Amino acid sequence: MRMSIYLDNAATTPLDPEVFESMKPFMLDDFGNPSSTHSHGRKVRAAIETARKQIAGFLNCTPGEILFTSGGTEADNTILISSINTYGIKNVITSPIEHHAVDHTLAHLVKQGAIQIHYVKLDEKGHVDLNHLEHLLTENSGSLVSLMHANNEIGNLLDIERVGKLCSEHAAYFHSDTVQTMGHYKLDLSKTNVHGLTAAAHKFHGPKGAGFMFIRKDKKLQPFVHGGAQERNMRGGTENVYGIIGLAKALEIAYRDMDAHARYIHSLKIRMIDRLKDCIPNVTFNGDSAALEKSLYTVLNVSLPESPENGMLLFNLDLVGISASGGSACSSGAATGSHVLNYLYPDSKRGAIRFSFSKYNTKEEIDNVVRKLAEQILK
Ligand SMILES: Cc1ncc(COP(=O)(O)O)c(C=O)c1O
Repeated sequence: MRMSIYLDNAATTPLDPEVFESMKPFMLDDFGNPSSTHSHGRKVRAAIETARKQIAGFLNCTPGEILFTSGGTEADNTILISSINTYGIKNVITSPIEHHAVDHTLAHLVKQGAIQIHYVKLDEKGHVDLNHLEHLLTENSGSLVSLMHANNEIGNLLDIERVGKLCSEHAAYFHSDTVQTMGHYKLDLSKTNVHGLTAAAHKFHGPKGAGFMFIRKDKKLQPFVHGGAQERNMRGGTENVYGIIGLAKALEIAYRDMDAHARYIHSLKIRMIDRLKDCIPNVTFNGDSAALEKSLYTVLNVSLPESPENGMLLFNLDLVGISASGGSACSSGAATGSHVLNYLYPDSKRGAIRFSFSKYNTKEEIDNVVRKLAEQILK
């Protein structure tokens, strides 16, 4: 029988059935518009506000600082564009390996002549050089800093507390894309000097098309989506009610089970690293993805020996029912290569596969995937 193994959880995760159950009443019975003042509307409004309060509780911020969006891309666009507009920011400090939701947005602003970008140096593993960041901050006081908490392709983690501290010392507005860490790591926003961060429910077993942004209350932003007065005037449009309910439920489950799931998924990652080293000569790992404390436990980016067959690796895995990705699958299907790997390894002809894990994967799946991959590489 054909296998069906899903190791592309950084692209999206399966919906948790518990999350689906929480959403169902809002799809069928509680259909009111939360802006309506009658009882149908009020009931749904109350559920949204409970979800907001719950999320704020997990992050240790106030409910008014949580604003619902359609996901990570919209949240990143909003914070970047609105912080630049609100505060008249002209200089942006970022890295060359941010997600396209950030780097394409910034490139668009450069094209419009609105900003100038200053790229922070990365070390050979792809980590931000904090000394260089400090230098850039000193040269460009009052800038916007956009650095992701974890890279979705190589998994590298940023020391967000340290960067937050540097930003506040230099009066910078600090945005961090936390799409890959939300629901997988705990953040205490009363202690982290970040002004804006972003999340997408589908990365932690919630529904697609639902996300949120945190916008610190002492650094308010002008609206990005104009229209109705929803989301405290920050995002016009009738709320994605069942998406928001599912998002809060998914985060509740993630926080409830985080320690056990983190340990379990970690063990899958270690198993895969060990099995790959045993079975495939000259296998290495891209970025710092094999360093367990410095990278996402959900992501392993594997570098495979040079071969004319490398272009077919993902296709051949897919043929036997194994889903993985060549880099970022967020703008799916694109076989143009990863801007992250191209930046870090410009001359490399090695193959690259990103495997990303969830609580639903098993040790047997890991063993099967390594076996199938080794068969392809060694044939
Ligand atoms: C780091 C990162 N930022 C932003 C996004 C975009 O999120 P969404 O698909 O919810 O718009 C993704 C993935 O899709 C991501 O991995």
